[in-house]
Amino acid sequence: MVLIGASILSADFSNLKEELKKAEEAGVDFFHVDMMDGHFVPNISMGIGIAKHVKKLTSLPVEVHLMVENVDLFINEFKDMDYISFHIEAVKFPFRIINKINEIGAKPIVALNPATPIGRIEYILDEVYGVLVMTVEPGFAGQKFIPIMVKKIRKLKSMIVEGGHDVKIFVDGGINTETAPLAVKAGADAIIAASAIFGKEDIKEAVKALRESVGG
Ligand code: DX5
Ligand code: ZN
Repeated sequence: MVLIGASILSADFSNLKEELKKAEEAGVDFFHVDMMDGHFVPNISMGIGIAKHVKKLTSLPVEVHLMVENVDLFINEFKDMDYISFHIEAVKFPFRIINKINEIGAKPIVALNPATPIGRIEYILDEVYGVLVMTVEPGFAGQKFIPIMVKKIRKLKSMIVEGGHDVKIFVDGGINTETAPLAVKAGADAIIAASAIFGKEDIKEAVKALRESVGG
């Protein structure tokens, strides 16, 4: 079954507790928390405290997506999180970062910007829990899925299968009922959406539609 991650970037922050509850009841599998520093991406999203609140307010796994330049500086802040996604473009020594994430008891996920070739992560595939394929340029919710990314997901899936690696593919950006099936057919194990979940009037209906679009 495909996992659905709800990115809280489009949630109503004045009512976060309710929003999380609604998404949880609607059947999402995990929460995705976008952390931005205004350097790695041209935006600032939310503080570390919000991620900690989310973790306290839900029993579902929480994935923190670090869109920050200095990954090393922040890892220790996320001790309670289930998954920590870091960008390969931001780190010089990925093995060191992966070790640090493992040491605090979280699972490491490596993220790739759309134009970053999958070859960049070939030698760390045995060390990570997942690969987060960005299907928009990171920084904002509500952008359009970049179609050529379907090919990238497919290539990554082959690389994983051929190498016999045990790695999940997460897809993030522009996911909706039209693009989700494309990502899943290409090999995605998990899809992440902000606007297609929290941006909709009826969260329950939105999650149901997403789930149906990928065949349940
Ligand atoms: C983009 C973030 C995404 C974003 C997705 O920088 O990493 O997680 O929240 O938003 P949608 O689903 O609206 O494209
Ligand atoms: Zn994200």
